[in-house]
Formats: sequence, structure tokens, C-alpha cells
Amino acid sequence: EEAKSIVLKEDPSLPPAKKIKISQAIENRDHRVKVSGWVHRQRTQGKDMKFIVLRDGAGYLQCFLSGRLCHSYDALTLTLESTISVYGIISELPEGKTAPDNHELRVDYWEVIHKAPGGDDAFTNQLNSEADPSVLYDLRHLVIRGENASAALKVRSSVLKSFRDHFASKDLTEITPPSMVQTQVEGGSTLFSLQYYGEMVYLTQTAQLYLETCLPSLGDVYTISESFRAEKSHTRRHLSEYTHVEAEMAFITFDDLIETVEDMVCDVVDRTLADPKISQLVYQLNPNFKKLERPFMRLDYKDAIQYLKDHNITKDDGTFYEFGEDIPEAPERAMIDKIGKPVFLCRFPAEIKAFYMKKCVDDRRVTESVDLLMPTVGEIVGASMRITDLEELLEGYKREGIEPTPYYWYTDQRKFGTCEHGGFGLGLERFLAWLLNRKTVRDCCLYPRFTERCAP
Ligand code: 4AD
Repeated sequence: EEAKSIVLKEDPSLPPAKKIKISQAIENRDHRVKVSGWVHRQRTQGKDMKFIVLRDGAGYLQCFLSGRLCHSYDALTLTLESTISVYGIISELPEGKTAPDNHELRVDYWEVIHKAPGGDDAFTNQLNSEADPSVLYDLRHLVIRGENASAALKVRSSVLKSFRDHFASKDLTEITPPSMVQTQVEGGSTLFSLQYYGEMVYLTQTAQLYLETCLPSLGDVYTISESFRAEKSHTRRHLSEYTHVEAEMAFITFDDLIETVEDMVCDVVDRTLADPKISQLVYQLNPNFKKLERPFMRLDYKDAIQYLKDHNITKDDGTFYEFGEDIPEAPERAMIDKIGKPVFLCRFPAEIKAFYMKKCVDDRRVTESVDLLMPTVGEIVGASMRITDLEELLEGYKREGIEPTPYYWYTDQRKFGTCEHGGFGLGLERFLAWLLNRKTVRDCCLYPRFTERCAP
């Protein structure tokens, strides 16, 4: 009752407060500011002191309330995730005290914008269901307010920028291809189909074929867009919708292609870590992160088959993988985790790869294809040189049982000025799962889409 009678008022004799985001706090120290955000943490000390860590998405700011400011009814009933505005001066903390960015806002006035529920409905109770991960995906809109979930999303944003800056530095042009398509590229079993004015169309699995058509008109190109795969399996690294970083380059060799991928992965890591704020988030999530050593190891598929035998990595039935068989996720992971560093797995047999891959000149059984495997995740990049010869392309369609008619525009590329070219696709969420040491790609995107989940 007594608290209810306390009415806080802003002192009109104080200098007007400048409205800032927490990201601008350092440069606005020692001036009166106004900051709005969500109550991230709070702690009361005795009757006369209250510490609030305010979060505005751009950062965290410790706020210190004293005396009357923490006697009001709002102060006594303040709940986590309530929105408030605080006014006052940010000053550096003396040595020995710690707070985000080593400073604190001494509040001279504050107001509640909206109070989040307390008691049984309190925010922390909502998220207390850690037992069942599916509940946490139902509550992902709240989970992303957490320090680690939001850190991953912030790094993701920075990594996207690093990819764009990297490609710009190499003179690649960004394109934005359509997502609704009438051709399959990476196998019919993972296609999502939908009705399109009475016709059946698919959600794209890759922009690759469209990127290839841009070479003669735009030169080397890239895209960062969504790809869709109707994956039937529940795994830590498969999403139904993922962000696909793809590039295509003309007049290159297979070696150039491998170099390009290695250079990109290292440069994107460097660019991302160059921002101290982002670097801090990377190490917050992955304290043991170590920069990559070049060159990456290269291993031919046929030698990988031998590696699996030598290390007694078998199929479920105890038999060994043989040349010509796909190396699934589990043995691939077992191998890469044993090796413990990035590996370019090269020259896969044509039969287990897509129709468009160029065969090796010295061994017609295998293709100029390469996957980049990273420890803890496995494959993060799929790359290949593409068929340049019209006849070989037509054979490729045939081998994969593809009716060539709807691919006329792709076939035309081999008629009107063909060239040696190649490219790659990198799964952004897998790259992040590696960089940030996340257990699953599901924690590396905003609202993951996977088997039986399309919400929120
Ligand atoms: O190896 P993939 O299927 O290659 C292609 O789609 C090529 N057409 C790309 C190109 O050359 N332009 O897929 C490329 C990468 C994989 O290495 C993986 O990182 C990611 O895409 N990826 C997935 N990521 C998450 N969930 C899935 N279901 C994925 N399928 C592929």
C-alpha cells in the first residue's frame, strides 16, 4: 500500500535524455540517456538497491536503481521480460566490478511500458520444460530471447554479411533465383511439390542450374537463398528448408574450384571474427574454436572407402562399404571426427552423384566432385565441375532417368558457347553448427523446418 503511494517523476531540472540503443552506450557514456528494452535479469540488494540487466536486442546494459526508485510498486512487482524505459547516466565501472561492457546506467528516473506476467505464468516457468525438446521448438519465439539462442542468430547475420563481402571482393554478382521450379536437380525423393494454377511444381532444391545460365550474361555469380528438401530422416543436420549459399564460376579447373571453397571458408571465418562483438559471441558459444589451418586435407572417395575399412567403420550389419556405395551420415561423421580437421572428400562415383557432374579424364568411373567435411558436422559443402559436352549431358539425364524436355534451357547452355565451369553449395546452418559448435542445425536458424514441424 505504501509502495502504491510512491509516484516517480522525472526531475525537470535534469538535462534532456538522448534516446539511444544499447549498442551506442559506450559512445554516450557520461551523458544523460534514455534506453528502452526488456528486463533480462534483475537482482534486489537490501531495501534500497536494485540491479536490472536491460536487453534491447542490440546489447545488454546493467542499470542501477537506488532509494525511492526501487521502493515504488512497479519496482517491487517488476517481472522478467517486462518492457521498461530507464533514464540516467552511463559510467564506467571501477575495477573489480563486472557488468556488460564494463559500465552501468545510474537510473534517475524509470517507467514501465508493459508488465509481463509473474507467478505461474512467468517467463521462466514457460521455458522450464527442457525435458522435451519439441516443447522448446513450440516455444522458439521465447527461446530466441535467451543469450545463446540470440547469439547464434546474431552471428548468423554477421556470417551472411561476411559471405556477401567475400563474394563482392571476388567480383561475383548476386542473383535471386525463383523458388518455384519445374525441374529436379538433386534427386526426386526429396522434392516438395505444390499446386501452381492446376500444374504441379516443386520448391527448389538448389539454384545451381539457374546460376549456370547466368555465367554468359553476368559472369561469375552467387546467391544466398532458401532451398527445400523433403528429408524423411530426423537428423541433427537436415532441415526441410535451409539457407543455401551457392556460387558458380566460369573458365575454372577442378583444382581452382577446391581452392575457391577453401579460400572462402577461411576468409568468411576471418571476416566474421574481425568484428570484436561477433568474435565474442562466437567464443561465448564455442570457447574452443580454433582458426583453420591451410591447406585442408584432401582425400579421394576411393581412399575414404579404404579408410573406413582400416578403421573398422562398418554398416549396421557389420559389413564394409564398397566402392560405388554412398557413404551415409554416420560413417562420414565417424571418419571426420577421427581425422579432426576439415577434409575435402574428392572424386565420387558418377552413379551416386547428380546428372550434371563432369567425369574425370583419367578415370571415367568417378566425377570432378568434392564435399567439404568439417569435424562435428560432416558435409557442409557440395561442389563439382559441370558437364561441358552436350552428348555427355544427355547421357547424364538418361542415367538418372530424367526426361530432358523441361531442361531445354539448361541443355541450351551446352549449345551456345559451352565452357569449363563449376560451383558449390554450402548449407549456412551447417556452417554455423560447425563454427558455433551447436548440436544441431535446428539451433542455427530462426524457426527451423524439419519433419513434422512447420511452426511457429
Ligand atoms: O550437396 P548438395 O545437395 O549440392 C547441391 O545442391 C548443389 N546443386 C550445390 C551447387 O553446386 N550449387 O547440397 C549442398 C549443401 C550440402 O553440402 C549441405 O551443407 C546443404 O547444402 N544441405 C542441407 N542443409 C540442411 N538441410 C538439408 N536437408 C540439406 N541438404 C543439403
